[in-house]
Amino acid sequence: MRERPGQSVAAGHCLVVLPVVKIRRFPYNPPLSGVVWPATGRERAMKRVVRKETQPNPLLPGYDFNAHLVAGTSPILKGGFLDFWIDRPNGMKGYIINLTVKGRGVIHEDGAVETCKPGDLVLFPPSVMHYYGRDPDYSEWIHAWIYFRPRAYWSQWLDWPQKIKRIGRLTLPDEKTFKEFLAAFREIEYIHRRSSPLSEAICINLLERLLLRCADEIIPGSYAAVDTRIMRACYIINEHLFENFPVSEVAREVCLSTSRLAHLFREQMGISITKWREDQRLIHAQQLLKITQSPIAAVAALVGYSDQLYFSRVFRKSMGISPLEYRRRNPSETQTPGSDVSWSNPPRALRG
Ligand code: FCB
Repeated sequence: MRERPGQSVAAGHCLVVLPVVKIRRFPYNPPLSGVVWPATGRERAMKRVVRKETQPNPLLPGYDFNAHLVAGTSPILKGGFLDFWIDRPNGMKGYIINLTVKGRGVIHEDGAVETCKPGDLVLFPPSVMHYYGRDPDYSEWIHAWIYFRPRAYWSQWLDWPQKIKRIGRLTLPDEKTFKEFLAAFREIEYIHRRSSPLSEAICINLLERLLLRCADEIIPGSYAAVDTRIMRACYIINEHLFENFPVSEVAREVCLSTSRLAHLFREQMGISITKWREDQRLIHAQQLLKITQSPIAAVAALVGYSDQLYFSRVFRKSMGISPLEYRRRNPSETQTPGSDVSWSNPPRALRG
């Protein structure tokens, strides 16, 4: 990859490869409905990779989003510094839920064009193109948003029935509900900004509640409870995250055959049982990386990976960065040199 003329890397700065976020300033002529975006297909078809310096403001291009959750509010005012067209041709790794607070936004997906007004929520699944901005007929579009990598069992609440092509859409029924949702977004953003060692865990917890509220608004009371045998399987796996036992053992514990458990699990959780366990392990590993200074090999062992290199590979695949880099970017005040987690019941992998 070549550097652009005049572009150099200052000492201490890092360059990473990021997906392109194109900025278009208004006046902008959005593609007309019926015209399949991109009208300039050649440009879109090209694999566009740029070299960009990371920057710390998630409202602007260049933020790396290597996190489980990022929350913010974008006050897009006509002619203001955020008044650009958000154009992420390949979407993002995680989901984004977006609540319009004031003004109007316009969202495009594959030829469809929809306007968002206060009280409208949209949910972008991973890898779905982002192509949206302020409605040119309005002077502002203020929206709150949360970027997140979901917990495995959330999948059942993330498939909203009403959609703009692949983007979920939900209109809140009244002012009172709108205020309740706005307060929930604000609380998550506030706690996210505090960035204490547990703020991400609290945000994930609050977000789960918010997604449940969305699900409840969509089809009140229609979400069937998960089969108790599947809940028990989840419980067993979580209790023994650091142990490597075959799925057949869990199946025996919950009185199902291995194949029946695998089938039911996928049906109810929307993900395979092994992937679910991997997700849980990674969530736990992130906490340990943040709140302890245990060596990576010990963190790996604590969440069930006896091979540190394999753990690092799995971690990087999911988070986009290595465990060490993750720790470096998430320093915690509670880390003290040599500190370690204490376990009342130490995992087998670390016993004598
Ligand atoms: C901001 C956008 C917001 C969201 C975040 C990730 O620039 O205004 O809608 O996409 O990026």
